[in-house]
Order: sequence, then C-alpha cells, then structure tokens
Amino acid sequence: MCGIVAAIAQRDVADILIYGLQRLEYRGYDSAGLAVIDQNAHLNTLKRQGKVATLADLVATEQPRGGTGIAHTRWATHGEANETNAHPHISQDRIAMVHNGIIENYKSLKETLSGQGFAFKSQTDTEVFTHLIASHLQNQSSLLEAVKQAKQQVTGAYGTVIIDKENPDTIVAARSGSPLVIGLGLGENFVASDQLALLAVTRRFIFLEEGDFAEITRHKVSVFDVDGNPVEREVVEVNASQDTNSKGQYRHYMLKEIFEQPTSIRNTLEGRVTTDGLVDGIFGQGFEQMLKGVNHVQIVACGTSYHAGLVARYWLEQYGHVSCNVEIASEFRYRHFHTVPGSLLVTISQSGETADTLAALRLAQQRDYLSSIVICNVDGSSLVRESDYAFMTNAGAEIGVASTKAFTTQLTSLLMLTLAVGKAKGLAEDKQSLITHALLGLPAKLEQALTLDSHISDLAEDFIEKDHALFLGRGDQFPIALEGALKLKEISYIHAEGYAAGELKHGPIALIDADMPVIVVAPNNELLEKLHSNIEEVRARGGVFYIFADQDAHFESDETCHVIDVVSTDALTAPIVYTLPLQLLSYYVAVIKGTDVDQPRNLAKSVTVE
Ligand code: AGP
Repeated sequence: MCGIVAAIAQRDVADILIYGLQRLEYRGYDSAGLAVIDQNAHLNTLKRQGKVATLADLVATEQPRGGTGIAHTRWATHGEANETNAHPHISQDRIAMVHNGIIENYKSLKETLSGQGFAFKSQTDTEVFTHLIASHLQNQSSLLEAVKQAKQQVTGAYGTVIIDKENPDTIVAARSGSPLVIGLGLGENFVASDQLALLAVTRRFIFLEEGDFAEITRHKVSVFDVDGNPVEREVVEVNASQDTNSKGQYRHYMLKEIFEQPTSIRNTLEGRVTTDGLVDGIFGQGFEQMLKGVNHVQIVACGTSYHAGLVARYWLEQYGHVSCNVEIASEFRYRHFHTVPGSLLVTISQSGETADTLAALRLAQQRDYLSSIVICNVDGSSLVRESDYAFMTNAGAEIGVASTKAFTTQLTSLLMLTLAVGKAKGLAEDKQSLITHALLGLPAKLEQALTLDSHISDLAEDFIEKDHALFLGRGDQFPIALEGALKLKEISYIHAEGYAAGELKHGPIALIDADMPVIVVAPNNELLEKLHSNIEEVRARGGVFYIFADQDAHFESDETCHVIDVVSTDALTAPIVYTLPLQLLSYYVAVIKGTDVDQPRNLAKSVTVE
C-alpha cells in the first residue's frame, strides 16, 4: 500500500512528485507529503491529511524549490491518518524518508533509539526506521552505508527512499517485500513504487529485485543485491499509454472501466484465440507440455481475484478434467497444506503486488508444485517476475479501486487456461470448439449487457435507504453473487452478503423481510429449476427480489419481484456476462449515495501489506 515517488534532477522536482502521487493515489489516499532539498541545503517538508489534491494546493501556494525530493501518499498501517503520521518522516532535521510496508520489530528498535536520545513525534514504524538510519549516519558520511546497516536490523517489509540534506546529490532506495522501480532520465533519475507514476518523465525503468538497494545520482544508478554486491539489472522500456489516465466522457473511472469491458476482453483474446482454437504457445514455452503432467490445480488469490478463481474451479473441473482447490492467499500461506502430486499453482492478481498472494507463491515454490502461473494485469510486477509463467490479462490500467474490467479479463483468461488444460487432458473436439466460440462471442454479449445501463440506474434508487442486501446465485454464479456483494459494500458502504441460493434455508433466510433486497443472478443453466425453488422459499417470507435473468428463464415481474432481462448467453460465459449488471447496480447506488466511487474509504488498489 501507499505510493512513493522520488526525483533527483537539475530542475525543481515538486511538480513531478505531485504528478506522480496523483498517479499513485490508487495505492492509498489518507494523507500525503513531500520533502525537497533546495540549493541552500535546506530541507523543506510539506504534509497534508487527506488526498493528494490537498497537498497539491499547498505546494502551489508554497512553491518549494529544489532538485532532490521524495513524496508519499499513505494508506495508514501504524497510527491514524493525520498530518503527524504522514510521510516523509524526518530525523535530526537532516534525513527524510518515505516508506511502504511494515517494520515488524519497530517497538524494540524504538526502545533502543529512545535510549540513545531520539525523540518520536509520530506513531509510525517508519519514523523508527528513519531514526535508525540517522543513528548510523552519525558514525559515517555515506547515506548508502547507513541504510545498508539499518536494513540489517529491521524485520518486515519495505520499499523506501531516503534523502540527506548533507548529501543532496544522492538518493538511496531499498526494496524488501514492497516494490520499487527506478526511472532513468537524461541527466535526472527517479524512483517510484509503480512505473505509472513516472510515465510523464521516462519510459526506461530498472525494476529492483527483492533485497536490492540502490544509490542514485543525476547521472548514475548503482544497484546492489541483498548481500551488498554491485549488480547490473536489466533496463526495461515500458510502452504504456498515458491515455488510460483520462476519464474521457465518463463521470468516474469505474464507469469508464465498466464500459471498456468489451474492448478489454477483445484485447485479452487478441492473437490468442481464433476460430480454430487457442493459438499455440500463448502461455509460454513448454507450458502445454507441462500441463500433460498436471492432475490438480491450486488457485490462490485475494478479494475479487479470489472470486475469479472460484468461477474457474467450475470450469477446470468440468472441462479440464482436473481437481481444483481455490483459497484466499492470506489463509493459504499459513495453513499446513498438503501438496497434491502433479499440482499446478495458479495465482490471480490484478496488480501483481498483493503481499499475501506473493507470499503464497514464494511458499509454494518451496513445495513440490509442478509449476506456477500468474494471471495478472501488470507487466513487470513481482508476481509476473517470480512465477514460472505469466499470462497477462491485457485489461489496460485499471484506476478505479473497485475491480471491474480486471475481473472479467481474469475470467476470460481463466477460461482460456481451462481450454489449454482441457486440450492437454484430451477434452473432446466439440467441447473445445464450444469454449472457443463462447470466448469469441463474449465481447458482443457484453456490449448487449451494457445496454441495461439506464434501466439499472433507475433501479438503484430503490437501494439508497437500505442497510443490507443479499446476493444469490447457484453453481458458477455463486462466486458472481459474492462479487456482486463485494462491489456493493466496497463502494456504497451498504452491508451485503453473497450466498449460494441453496444454502439460504440453513440460516440466512431468517434475515428475510421487506427491507432486505435480494438480488439474484439467474442465467438459463442446468440449475435454473433449483434456483426457482430457492426463490419461492424466500418469496413466501416476504422477500423483495431483483432478478437478473435470461430472457428465456420464465420469471415474471410483479410488486415484489423486479425481473431484469439479460441477453441470452451460453452457460459457459454467463458468469462473465452477469457480472456487468451487478457492477452497474453497485456503481449507481454509490453515485446516488454520494460516496467516493473511485477511491472508497479505507481501501487501496494495491494491497502490499499483510
Ligand atoms: C476488489 O474490487 C478489490 N480491488 C480487491 O478485492 C482486490 O481484488 C484484492 O485486493 C486483490 O487485488 P489483486 O487482484 O491486485 O491481487
């Protein structure tokens, strides 16, 4: 969580830092700050509680000068979100530090440093790390050496950048468990926690690896590995469009991203699926051969990505002829699991930086998995670099904190993975062809699903006085009900639960009354009749329904039952198609309630802490 930007240049860098923070706000947005060293070796620090815009206003007024600077947008872990706890943290009015991650042994370090006379202003672990570096700097002149020594004393995770007003021509960066990238300019260099922050100033990047630290001047970048040995890291040219940062005609990024889904999914499929099926080699060299030895798939992910995994289980077991287990990464990593022989590990992550998912991958790499593949949207991210194989979802940058196009492109990618597994396991040609055609027909179906926009915007009015909502589905629509509930709660703050419709009678049915809207996803599939029965059980207890149903599913609207016709679609891709109306419903409820749709409270897009 949190976002870091740093720059060392001949020009003033405050505007570059602010621009970068604005690009990184998806990582956290409860406070922001920057520090720059001016020509007179004066350290100028500005901080504000709240979003980057409030800091930008302050910077516009104060106009801090200086070519060496660091900046941070925070998602609070230690200490509440206020100005004192905001980064950068300062020690001895000399060094300034920004930090992503958590220092786990900060309490014992704090005691030692207090004994040495260091005074603490904030409640943060970061201030402890800052003083620790300052304590080492008392004995030598090199900031790099001081950081190197301090690093050895801390446990936990960090991506950090430090400046020293007595060494204004150098910045030092260190990575352990939280990503950092160095941007290379001409006579100027930069650091950020995500290259997105630096696209206005460079397209050339060095991605620091685990344990790396670096000394950066205007003209030189020196990288050292975890043991302190100088290393050469590859320079990568990133070809990302800045246009993704525009909302265009849309009021919110989330709405733009919902409407982008037909295009995003075309991009996911492009060059990978034709009417003849999957193009050979799209998952990477040797992947198809490796699949022949796979008889179990373990999927690990968090949040929305976990829901994508839950859908994939239905597909992989039915068409891939393999057993499949799906688990939340934060649970998987601490469970004493048994590795089924012939297992493939599949991680799913929009950002590729989710700490729990990354830890799960690293743990699995010490076990007997045949191989690992990540389904990911961010090239160059940690999960992409550390997995044996990476399959990019190609959704384009997703800015809204609530996942929309990332989810449906994950599902599309997972269906392609199912096809690959099926092929390796001898799935009949006609079934392969069924999947291929369902995939190719998907963008058009999604375009039709989006025509429900104004209908759903009207329906959303019914929800604004509600405190709770229930989402129901069966089979591969059960995870879609979970996802619908997650979307509603994260952006509208209405408490929502997703349930397998058949499970309702085992307890949750007690909650049903006229104040509890029940949203049902009801495509025309083999479980439709069962779903009809579950709905009648709720109806008999005074439930009010919103049923998203296939036109041929034979539901009729009446006073307590609102039926919304969704385009007829094959059962296979129905989970993807039915996701869109639920996204629109959450979006319009949130808009009417006046919440911060793109940056809902307490959340961050990339969860790089445990
Ligand atoms: C969903 O809208 C959230 N953005 C969240 O649940 C997210 O899916 C989760 O934090 C996992 O993130 P990842 O896909 O980047 O790993």
